Amino acid sequence: MDADKTFCEFFAGIGLVGEGLRASGWACVYANDIAPGKRELYEALNGPSPRYHLEDVNRTAEIVARIPGRPALATASFPCVDLSLAGHYRGLDGRESSTFFAFAEVLRTLGARRPPLVLLENVPGFLTSRQGRDFVTAAETLAGLGYRLDAFVLDARHFAPQSRRRVFVVGAVEEIPAPARPASQPGMLRPANLVKILSTLRLPTGWLNLDLPDPPERGVRLEDVIDRDDAQDWWSKVEVDRHCRMMSDDHLRQVEKLRAGATPRIGTAFRRVRSGGQRTEVRFDGLAGCLRTPRGGSGKQIVVAIDACGLRMRWMTPREYARLQGMPDFPLIGSRNQQLFGFGDAVCVPAIQWVDRQVLTPLYESARASRGNGHAG
Ligand SMILES: C[S@@+](CC[C@H](N)C(=O)[O-])C[C@H]1O[C@@H](n2cnc3c(N)ncnc32)[C@H](O)[C@@H]1O
Repeated sequence: MDADKTFCEFFAGIGLVGEGLRASGWACVYANDIAPGKRELYEALNGPSPRYHLEDVNRTAEIVARIPGRPALATASFPCVDLSLAGHYRGLDGRESSTFFAFAEVLRTLGARRPPLVLLENVPGFLTSRQGRDFVTAAETLAGLGYRLDAFVLDARHFAPQSRRRVFVVGAVEEIPAPARPASQPGMLRPANLVKILSTLRLPTGWLNLDLPDPPERGVRLEDVIDRDDAQDWWSKVEVDRHCRMMSDDHLRQVEKLRAGATPRIGTAFRRVRSGGQRTEVRFDGLAGCLRTPRGGSGKQIVVAIDACGLRMRWMTPREYARLQGMPDFPLIGSRNQQLFGFGDAVCVPAIQWVDRQVLTPLYESARASRGNGHAG
C-alpha cells in the first residue's frame, strides 16, 4: 500500500466513508465524530482505534493538533438535518449543518498541511437549501481555500436496492492536473439544477468538470437483502390491519392488487405524518426507501411481504440496514436503536467505492505523477 495515500474522515460516524475508501488502499490517519455510540460501532468494525477522536469539530485547535502530517484527502459527511424539513430548512445557519464551517476552519488552520483533496457528501437538499445560497456559500468557502471543485448527484440504487440520492462535492488544489473539459451537461449524475449552478457560479479557482461515466446497473435485488423466514418479528394481524387502514386509497389498492396476484413481492413502507394524520406509505418498485435515523416511528423502515403467507409486515432489522448500506457482515454491537442510528446516517459503501475509483484515486494518481513522490499543492 502507498503510505502517502492517507485520509482524514470528518463526521466519521460508524466509518462507512472510510470503509469505501479502504478498498483501493487509502489509510485513515484521523477520524472525528461527536457521538460515542457511533464510535462503538466504528471500533466493532475496525478494532480499537486511537485515531478516532471523539470531539466537537468546532474545537479547531484540539483537532488540528491530532492530525498527523499532511493527509492526501479530507472527507466530510456533515450533518444534513438543517438542509431538510426535519431541521426547518435552517440551512448552513442551523446548529448541526453549520458544522460545515467548522470543517472548513480546520482546513484553513492546517495551512501548509491542508489536504490536496476534499470530498463532501450530503443530501440533495444541499443544492436547494435557502434557494441554493447554502451550496454557493459552501463552494465559495472551499474555493477560498484553494480548491477547484466539481459536484455530482449519485444514487445508491445503482449499487444496492436502496433509493438514496446524495450530492458529492470534490475539491482538488489547483496544482493537481485535470484535463480542461467543456462545462457539464445535464445527465444521470448532473441534474438540471446542479448544471445551472455549475454553469453560472464563477469561482476564483474554477470548476474541474470531471468526465464521469454513468453508474452501473445494480446486481443486488431487494429480495436478496430482506429476510422472509418465520424467525423474523412479524407483526400481529391487528397491527398489519392498523397499518393498512393508515394507507391512502391508492396505496391500499396497490397492496390488494399484489395480494391477488400469484407472484411473491417484497416492498417497504414508512409511517409519515401528512395533513390528514398518520399515513403508511408503501413502495414496491424493487427499492427500499432511503434509510433514515429513527425518530419516533416515522424514521424507521417497514418491511412488507406479500406471498403464500399472506400480507406480512415488520420493522426492518439493523442487519437489513447494514446490507442496504453494502455492509452485510458488519459486526453489530450495542442497542438496536444505536445500530439503526448508525446505519440510517451512514453512506452506501459501494457508492463510495465508485466515487473513489472514478474520481479520488485518479486525482490522487494524477497529483503523484505530476510531482514525483510528493503531493501536489
Ligand atoms: C451524516 S452523519 C455521517 C455518517 C458517516 N458518514 C457514517 O458513515 O457513519 C453526520 C455525523 O456528524 C456527527 N456530528 C454532528 N455534530 C458534530 C460535531 N459538532 N462535531 C463532530 N461531529 C458531529 C454526527 O454524530 C454524525 O455521525
